[in-house]
Amino acid sequence: MNWIRLSGDDERVGVEISFSMSEARKHRILVQIDSDPQPSVFDAVVAVDAGADHLLSYGGITLEQVPSLVHGAIFTRGPKSLRHTAIFIGGSDVAVGEALLEAVTATFIGPMRVSVMLDANGANTTAAAAVLAARRHLDLSRTRAVVLAGTGPVGQRAVRLLARAGATVALASRSRNRAEAAVSAIDCARGSGTVTPCPTVDDEAMRACLDGAELVIAAGAAGVQLLSRPLLAAATSLKVAIDLNAVPPLGIEGLEAFDHAQRREGLVCYGAIGVGETKMQIHRAAVASLFERNELVLDADEIYELGKQSEGSAVADPA
Ligand SMILES: NC(=O)c1ccc[n+]([C@@H]2O[C@H](COP(=O)([O-])OP(=O)(O)OC[C@H]3O[C@@H](n4cnc5c(N)ncnc54)[C@H](OP(=O)(O)O)[C@@H]3O)[C@@H](O)[C@H]2O)c1
Repeated sequence: MNWIRLSGDDERVGVEISFSMSEARKHRILVQIDSDPQPSVFDAVVAVDAGADHLLSYGGITLEQVPSLVHGAIFTRGPKSLRHTAIFIGGSDVAVGEALLEAVTATFIGPMRVSVMLDANGANTTAAAAVLAARRHLDLSRTRAVVLAGTGPVGQRAVRLLARAGATVALASRSRNRAEAAVSAIDCARGSGTVTPCPTVDDEAMRACLDGAELVIAAGAAGVQLLSRPLLAAATSLKVAIDLNAVPPLGIEGLEAFDHAQRREGLVCYGAIGVGETKMQIHRAAVASLFERNELVLDADEIYELGKQSEGSAVADPA
């Protein structure tokens, strides 16, 4: 027991101080739930850097296993100490991660809960970092944006964040059906922006999709070029170009992976590694925030809000 008698004259004060000292000494425990057989070392390292004292890593986790893991987290420490325990959900399959998050929150029992964060495949922190990069140069509420390959988990989240910030967003895909399905799946409820599907089946369609846009985010699969240099040059309304693919060939020809607000041909450019810096900061800040309270649920929107708070509200560098 962490009992410190500070004053023999006033035991009540002594008890209170003893309690807070005891609270301060509680170790921060992060329960890492990963749907992949081998839990992500990347997520584990970030967790430690973000201040977790102990990491309990579980791989290959299925929905059926969630209740016992959550019960272990919520029934071991008293209600006032639950903020010292938190859950991180990772894994390469974002859809499974979303289902795990739902299962975790469904297992909480009233106030017997701990904070939880979803960042399966880095999708939430990556999309948030991309939109934050754009926000440094553009007033998103007045921006026309195109998210290339917006059908993937990162792209869909970027589209949603942009729309919620008030942007007019075209969600591009090689397939009209996939674009339409992704638009229907995106819940833009709390925002004033709009999302429309934009098939980019050939160069002509790509030109039409980019016509009038100020922002392009390339969220295509690793090692796939989506936008050639001539098509980029033809998109004269563009002010900011962001590419999330770090594996050559890059998603947007002419950008470099390390670009970080790099000016190229009148465009402000960010490459995947340039965006990655912000992504890492957001990831660490989000994990650290889990231990401040016991009822946080950090998905894409909440993680983006955290990033916004740390960057401030002003448009830093107009494009
Ligand atoms: N920096 C980081 O920490 C970090 C973290 C996560 C992801 N990323 C990067 O972010 C990007 C998006 O990630 P993601 O997981 O959302 O990607 P993804 O699911 O692998 O692919 C996204 C979309 O790319 C399109 N695509 C796939 N193969 C293609 C091909 N051969 N040719 C043209 N288009 C193709 C598909 O769109 P359509 O079929 O609809 O056209 C697909 O929905 C990736 O480059 C990834 O490496 C970076």
